[in-house]
Amino acid sequence: MPAPEPGAAFAARLIDWQRTHGRHTLPWQNTRDPYRVWLSEIMLQQTQVATVLGYYERFLQRFPDVAALAAASLDDVFGLWSGLGYYSRARNLHACAQAVVATHGGRFPGTSDELMTLPGIGRSTAAAIAAFCFGERVAILDGNVKRVLTRVLAFDGDLAEAKQERALWAQATALLPESEIERYTQGLMDLGATLCGARAPTCLLCPVREDCAAARAGTQERYPVKTRKLKRGTREHVWLWLHWRDEVWLEQRPATGVWAGLWSLPEFDSAEAFEAASADWLGQGESLPSFTHVLTHLDWRLHPIRWTLPDRSSAARRAQIESAWPTGRWFGLDEALAAGLPAPLRKLLLASAPSIT
Ligand code: ADE
Repeated sequence: MPAPEPGAAFAARLIDWQRTHGRHTLPWQNTRDPYRVWLSEIMLQQTQVATVLGYYERFLQRFPDVAALAAASLDDVFGLWSGLGYYSRARNLHACAQAVVATHGGRFPGTSDELMTLPGIGRSTAAAIAAFCFGERVAILDGNVKRVLTRVLAFDGDLAEAKQERALWAQATALLPESEIERYTQGLMDLGATLCGARAPTCLLCPVREDCAAARAGTQERYPVKTRKLKRGTREHVWLWLHWRDEVWLEQRPATGVWAGLWSLPEFDSAEAFEAASADWLGQGESLPSFTHVLTHLDWRLHPIRWTLPDRSSAARRAQIESAWPTGRWFGLDEALAAGLPAPLRKLLLASAPSIT
């Protein structure tokens, strides 16, 4: 199907601009290795390029190919992911590597349709991998690209509605060029990450301003249209740093929800709940400064208390306390810092135990 106007000119201009002004030296470019491209696309889903760079290198050093990642323990994967956030990505990454090994003989499948059947790979990520690695002519539509295309098309359907999102996918597909899909795809990403930002886009420098219906009308900041507002909640917990000798008691969080599968501190719903639980513990507590951890849907107020058990606490006295958290165990501080920890816990442990690095 030939691309409709203004598709042909739009794609050609975007491709030219990518060639001269786009990004060409990111570590996941200049390769057709699906493992490397997949890893970068997952890391980049909710995280800026500058943050991803270090994680990406460390990850590849430790897990140079999909077989190495599939053979790793989930704890090791979480350990390397710690601080990147959105930990379901790490869980899916591991599950995906195992599926590639178990059902595809250790090679990523070569089409976006097949890629989409793997854990953690949605339609846009599948398309990016297939375009970059296999030259498949298929549309991507991540958050940045939605912004670019709704502006170019002056697409004012509400993307909170599945029907409108489907319509935008169809238009994104209709705009695809006949060739140079890799450069076109990267160009859309680069434009969305640079000139076509959410606020105050730099239309004067934009290579496709003539093709852009919103820029022509001066309405670029009205796009994309999405009505559903995030309803932010708040949550509050006492966070128990149970300390014995040089160890900290961590419990593994459940497989779903915030920080799924990470090692973290036990929580109490209120100061009263903590006081009731700790009434007959030996040792003493110290309140550390409270802080708010901001999540996508939630402001989470945490009140850490470090409770130091006497060095000579008997195993029986400790077991009485430990039994409240059956998924927990003691960690040396170095060992804890190497495990999959939520970023604020890592910060807390480092700030309050300065001799540890
Ligand atoms: N964001 C998502 N994919 C990307 C890529 N390949 N390059 C730069 N930023 C990206």
